[in-house]
Amino acid sequence: MSYERLLETSQRVNWRLDDIIGNGRKMDFSKPFLPESFARTSPLSFLSPREKLLLNQIRAFEYLAMFELVERCILPFIDDHVPAKPGQDAYRSPALAQFAAEEEKHIELFVRFRQEFVEGFHVECGFIGPAEDIGAAIRNHSPLGVAIFVLAIEWATQRHYLESVRDDDTLDPQFKSLLKNHWVEESQHAKLDALVFYEMAAKSSAGQIEAAVDDFLDIGGFIDAGLKQQVALDLGSFERAIGRTLPDADREQFLEIQHQAMRWTFLGTALRNKGFLEALGSVSQNARTRIEQVAPAFC
Ligand SMILES: [Fe+2]
Ligand SMILES: [Fe+2]
Repeated sequence: MSYERLLETSQRVNWRLDDIIGNGRKMDFSKPFLPESFARTSPLSFLSPREKLLLNQIRAFEYLAMFELVERCILPFIDDHVPAKPGQDAYRSPALAQFAAEEEKHIELFVRFRQEFVEGFHVECGFIGPAEDIGAAIRNHSPLGVAIFVLAIEWATQRHYLESVRDDDTLDPQFKSLLKNHWVEESQHAKLDALVFYEMAAKSSAGQIEAAVDDFLDIGGFIDAGLKQQVALDLGSFERAIGRTLPDADREQFLEIQHQAMRWTFLGTALRNKGFLEALGSVSQNARTRIEQVAPAFC
């Protein structure tokens, strides 16, 4: 895979925001937004079908907010790599500039979907933050550790669309379109980011790569702690949405199942991703093994 080829593909599949949202395209609040593999409302047998639908939609709001946050966090990392340096591949800088421009557009896409959600949903949903602080804490690791994190996120989105296709008939077509169109452009990002990661890894010692994996796992732990806070916010949003407070035992089950569902959505889909593991394994087999060892906790 070359920068030239990836730039060419990026330009060919590129879409405009107005192709995706607006012009009468609306989310249909009578349908689930997220695939069940992410929402995991089925195991919560104490909820009615209507309540499960509301929970699915609250989780979709969280997905929009989380991706907006993550992409805002990733953008400065990509921007740092855009400037051309002597002797580099001539297509590298334009390809990465395109990558950054697409991420800016994606942030806007998530913002617009989130605004439409707020207008269409009957209660306000909480989200962790402030996003700037979370982003700064993630970036406050070694550049190679952050590169592994970015690589993980790019590959995770591949799975997000593929899983939504599986639930083809039930999902809201508009939310599915978001996942699909994001995936279309992220496919190039995952490969571009792998090229940047290989360049960085080639300049690093085995010890630095090991330390970067430590950093990546630290970032994962930090995000997981954020997910635990988020699940408590979701429970609050959910109880407001359904107009009742769950009994203690049901709350406990809600928190446990939904936290694990979020772990899978935002972390497991990356850690179990073949593309991510292969990219990592080609740099360090030991790094890949370490990730494979922690992955089951996030599934
Ligand atoms: Fe994106
Ligand atoms: Fe991306």
